[in-house]
Amino acid sequence: MPRRVIGIVMNGVTGRMGYRQHLVRSILAIRDQGGLPLGDGDTLWPEPILVGRSADKLKDLADRHGLTHWTTSLDEALAHPLAEIYFDAQVTPARETALRTAIAAGKHIYTEKPTAESLEAALDLARLARDAGVCNGAVQDKLFLPGLRKLKRLVDGGFFGRILSVRGEFGYWVFEGDWQQAQRPSWNYRAEDGGGMVLDMFPHWRYVLDGIIAPVRSVYAHTAIHIPERTDERGQVYRATADDAAYGVFELEGGITAQINSSWAVRVDRDELVEFQVDGTEGSAVAGLRECRFQHRAATPKPVWNPDLPATEPFRAQWQRVPDNEEFDNGFKAQWELFLRHVTTGSPYHWDLLEGAKGVQLAELGLRSAREGRRMDVPELSL
Ligand SMILES: NC(=O)c1ccc[n+]([C@@H]2O[C@H](COP(=O)([O-])OP(=O)(O)OC[C@H]3O[C@@H](n4cnc5c(N)ncnc54)[C@H](O)[C@@H]3O)[C@@H](O)[C@H]2O)c1
Repeated sequence: MPRRVIGIVMNGVTGRMGYRQHLVRSILAIRDQGGLPLGDGDTLWPEPILVGRSADKLKDLADRHGLTHWTTSLDEALAHPLAEIYFDAQVTPARETALRTAIAAGKHIYTEKPTAESLEAALDLARLARDAGVCNGAVQDKLFLPGLRKLKRLVDGGFFGRILSVRGEFGYWVFEGDWQQAQRPSWNYRAEDGGGMVLDMFPHWRYVLDGIIAPVRSVYAHTAIHIPERTDERGQVYRATADDAAYGVFELEGGITAQINSSWAVRVDRDELVEFQVDGTEGSAVAGLRECRFQHRAATPKPVWNPDLPATEPFRAQWQRVPDNEEFDNGFKAQWELFLRHVTTGSPYHWDLLEGAKGVQLAELGLRSAREGRRMDVPELSL
């Protein structure tokens, strides 16, 4: 089978997301399966060109995975004869400059979210990419997870009737770093380094709500720094300057109310780290990352409020599981494959930098809402 090689400059691959989800579970996994069939008899073979700040870490990583191309110079990586795509999973503040450089070098762009730290910059990047005529995409991984795919299946099949509301619960306890090491990098808790719950998670909530339920029309957010002092990777105590929790209310088109709590200072009493309950006139569903359970109108119990009696029914046992009915690949890999096909065959691709900018817009308006204590309209965006 003819093999077409495509070089992907990968920046930030020494980080959590860049390494595990993008390099190992996506690009190397595509190589492990023999490449990506393009549907015309050709197979696409992604060739990573690693770029980062530490030569030692890059060399070690390349050796570990049998990769040959790595450099600490972005310009050198972009000038590599195989390089066609630039991918960014760096810390958020480092992203904008690198994306601008890559667009100017004529590379197709694929990037982690948030695509920039401000809406203005996010829109400018989307315009630059459009004007340069390069393909562009932003990671929207949750849309490709089994639980949310099954939820979308229910929406598309008309299961809910009229959707009334969504309640989302996201979070887990992130250790403070003193007596047990924190399981997330410390920059996440410093606003000056691009951290904060709203900037991290509202971009996700934007595409989940827009893409599965209905477009977001307004936001009200209350934020908190619940843990004001943490200990970093080097054992140094630092002051948390970024929100570690955000309590958001979103109005969606069609009068749907969505309420999503996001917190790194909550202990999990759920089946999954994120869960969304959707209630509609005909039925309800609860979706997590992997599973989705539903209850039809006809199977809805009729509880009567009586605090003098113990609960009369096993409410959680009354839901049914949505069957898989298909095989689900890793969500990051699934989106990578769509983007690679888009670049090489021109197949349609929806999740571009303009869609990424919508996530930054919701984060920016969410932070402003929290500062000013008022609900903010979310205007339509265009380039
Ligand atoms: N899609 C998702 O579900 C998801 C989940 C977590 C993080 N992210 C996004 O991925 C990006 C990386 O997050 P992460 O959790 O992998 O972070 P991380 O700290 O583990 O990795 C950061 C990477 O950026 C590099 N880097 C470049 N300049 C740097 C600088 N000045 N200081 C520190 N590191 C620098 C690091 O070397 C490293 O490779 C962020 O933009 C974040 O919003 C996305």
